[in-house]
Amino acid sequence: MKKIIIGLSNSCLLAKKIAKKNRAEYSCLFVSNFPDGELYVRFLADLKNKLVVLVQSLHPNPDRSMLELIFAAHAAKNLGAKKVFAFVPYLAYMRQDKLFNSGECISSRVMGRLLSCVDFFATIDPHLHRIKSLNEIFRTKTKVLHASPLLSDFIKKKFKSGVLLGPDSESYQWVGSIAKRIGFPFDVLLKTRFSSRHVKVTPPKYPVNGRNVVIVDDIISSGHTIIEAAKALKRAGAKSISVVCVHGVFAENALGKLKKVGLKRIICTNTIQRRQSLIDVSGLFVDLLK
Ligand code: R5P
Repeated sequence: MKKIIIGLSNSCLLAKKIAKKNRAEYSCLFVSNFPDGELYVRFLADLKNKLVVLVQSLHPNPDRSMLELIFAAHAAKNLGAKKVFAFVPYLAYMRQDKLFNSGECISSRVMGRLLSCVDFFATIDPHLHRIKSLNEIFRTKTKVLHASPLLSDFIKKKFKSGVLLGPDSESYQWVGSIAKRIGFPFDVLLKTRFSSRHVKVTPPKYPVNGRNVVIVDDIISSGHTIIEAAKALKRAGAKSISVVCVHGVFAENALGKLKKVGLKRIICTNTIQRRQSLIDVSGLFVDLLK
């Protein structure tokens, strides 16, 4: 079956890379707005009888970018695509996976249902906390890909030595596997979250005095988790502090705030395209297509 890779508005660069490495046809989706603000999408290539791969990160503009993906998936089917796959490097809304307060929506479940309009759905390191598998919330075939081998290679190459640090117990899965892979010592802090912009972390137990520390996390959103972790590391005498994450959301000027706290390097993957996206995840999707 002929493949065509379609770049949606948040992920054109990544989609182009996937197409090039896969030697597949590439086209971008034309996206604009009607005068009243409603979304308009149009394919510019022939999709008939092809495997259509839609590539779209759900950040920035999570709501709009999700609707763009859903419109594209339905349109592709109507235009005669044989199969429609969605490659969504950053899957938004996964942190709303329970009722934190009465009256709320468990958004992750609704997202799963809405995005099940494709034949196959793949994403990278979704923030699955209480949900153990995407199959619990999706009604189509899914695949979760992991960026930690890519983070491991990057850290080993760029930092040579140092201490890895996970800012909270949830980060154990990433920092633990990376540390094992590259042989760095690691520690994990305990975090208490009071609100989306207010967290507290415990001091490190591992002696970081005079050491170069690399904080590893899946997502940096408001940046407060990393800011508090960096402050705790500074108090413990760390020589330098850098951070490497999978998804650089960097909401509400998080980058500016992170720079102020004196981080040496801030690096993320290109699940969300940034100046800091020095780790390329396109190979994960290419392998999947093979
Ligand atoms: C939490 O469990 C995640 O691993 C991240 O630590 C968290 O989502 C980061 O959020 P923020 O940057 O807003 O503190």
